[in-house]
Amino acid sequence: MTNINSAEHFNYRVVRLFSVASVIWGVVGMLVGVIIASQLTWPELNFGIPWLTYGRLRPLHTNAVIFAFGGCALMATSYYVVQRTCQVRLFLGKLAEFTFWGWQLIIVAAALTLPLGYTQGKEYAELEWPIDIAIAVVWVAYAIVFFGTIAKRRVKHIYVANWFYGAFILAVALLHIVNSAALPVSMLKSYSAYSGAQDAMVQWWYGHNAVGFFLTAGFLGMMYYFIPKQAERPVYSYRLSIVHFWALIFTYMWAGPHHLHYTALPDWVQSVGMLFSLILLAPSWGGMLNGVLTISGAWHKLRDDPILRFLIVSLSFYGMSTFEGPMMAIKTVNALSHYTDWTVGHVHSGALGWVGFVSIGSLYYLIPRMFGRDKMYSIKAIELHFWIATIGVVLYISAMWISGVMQGLMWRAINADGTLTYTFVESVKASFPFYVVRLCGGLMYLTGMLVMVWNMVMTVRAGRAVDAPIPVPKTLAHA
Ligand code: HEM
Ligand code: HEM
Repeated sequence: MTNINSAEHFNYRVVRLFSVASVIWGVVGMLVGVIIASQLTWPELNFGIPWLTYGRLRPLHTNAVIFAFGGCALMATSYYVVQRTCQVRLFLGKLAEFTFWGWQLIIVAAALTLPLGYTQGKEYAELEWPIDIAIAVVWVAYAIVFFGTIAKRRVKHIYVANWFYGAFILAVALLHIVNSAALPVSMLKSYSAYSGAQDAMVQWWYGHNAVGFFLTAGFLGMMYYFIPKQAERPVYSYRLSIVHFWALIFTYMWAGPHHLHYTALPDWVQSVGMLFSLILLAPSWGGMLNGVLTISGAWHKLRDDPILRFLIVSLSFYGMSTFEGPMMAIKTVNALSHYTDWTVGHVHSGALGWVGFVSIGSLYYLIPRMFGRDKMYSIKAIELHFWIATIGVVLYISAMWISGVMQGLMWRAINADGTLTYTFVESVKASFPFYVVRLCGGLMYLTGMLVMVWNMVMTVRAGRAVDAPIPVPKTLAHA
């Protein structure tokens, strides 16, 4: 029996809380995704109730999957990785516990205010100013715990996963504080501090870096820890991981304007965004290859290890979406893809395939360890989860690619006399079958998450909450 409060043990309690919360919020967020996918197929499914309308549920979906599911997975894994790689207990355990309850409170506040229609109207930054302030407070606490743990580490070297987590924490603080600057006029209404084209540019500087740092850098931290661990192989090239880190964080910051092609933004700013997006392909693929090649010589493990499969397949989706993104950033390609379902397909190949799979794989690694077991209750259930989720993602993204390109082509088709070949409603009608396919894909992905919940519950019931002892570093042992 381990003494869970002992200074000689890792603080797994907060990791446990965040891991379980991530799985639960994953189900909630994806359920809302399935609901809005149904509403896009059959609009009457909002039943005329204002808080069930698409416009209110859509930001609920994005906030729930990104900040609740993804956020909790990032906090769980970063708190675990920073302790294990620094060989110390988490700095200020009580503050870490505060970050958990504070973050949950913010999620609940979002789940209440968004359906009620309170929003700043900025994508991925919809929450009103009191919640924004709460986010800033919790985030600063998170940074103190994370960097405090690094400061008191017992291992001289700072492992590369921590660099990625650290960049994610610092960049998100910066993005959130700058983009949320607003003038409150009442408790639940405020106006942005920026206006016009500047507001749009700040918003998409934020929005793109939310992708780069929230949906990418932190998850790359997961990749650099959990793939080598699960594959029992060292990172393919440690040198490449350092080049990957600096190249990625430098390049991401400048690519935001690709969200604003053909708008009031100065043309040269759009071109800078396009150029940096193209450059971004190199560090993204360098990092992906570093992850994939880590299992060189251990490919056979993919045959019977579904956790490793989740982790490695996540990298194929990462590679796919970071190839597709730079292509979509080319102005002429964006002229076809923008406003269409192609963007939604791109988003979900990154979100379901990359972010979802790498989190699921890492959580399957973490959960049994948090509950004193060496593996999940059922490996067969993980196997099942892997296959339904993979087929689900493929259905989702291929349906969106086809309907997206079709929409783009239909909207630009003109007759010899210059009139439009198709009315808008004809393109909506043509999209219908693809919306049904997307819904099926989403339902499959959600079903996979429910299988995960069952497996998690069985694992927790068969185990008990334990905190592992901190091994004495070799250098100290010899001292
Ligand atoms: C069962 C799984 C999911 C389903 C069925 C689903 C469904 C949807 C639907 C229907 C939309 C609206 C698309 C539109 O406006 O035309 C959407 C948007 C979005 N979803 Fe999901 N989603 C799922 C999972 C996820 C996950 C796990 C993430 C992130 C980690 C995610 C991130 C997003 C984002 C960022 C958008 C906004 C896209 C944009 O503005 O282009 N989704 N989702
Ligand atoms: C090299 C990397 C990437 C580049 C250059 C890139 C580029 C782009 C471009 C050009 C768009 C379309 C903008 C528009 O027409 O409105 C877009 C949208 C988007 N991408 Fe990426 N992408 C990359 C990777 C990713 C990854 C890995 C993810 C997810 C994990 C992701 C998530 C998104 C989201 C959420 C949007 C929709 C934003 C919105 O309109 O709400 N991207 N990206």
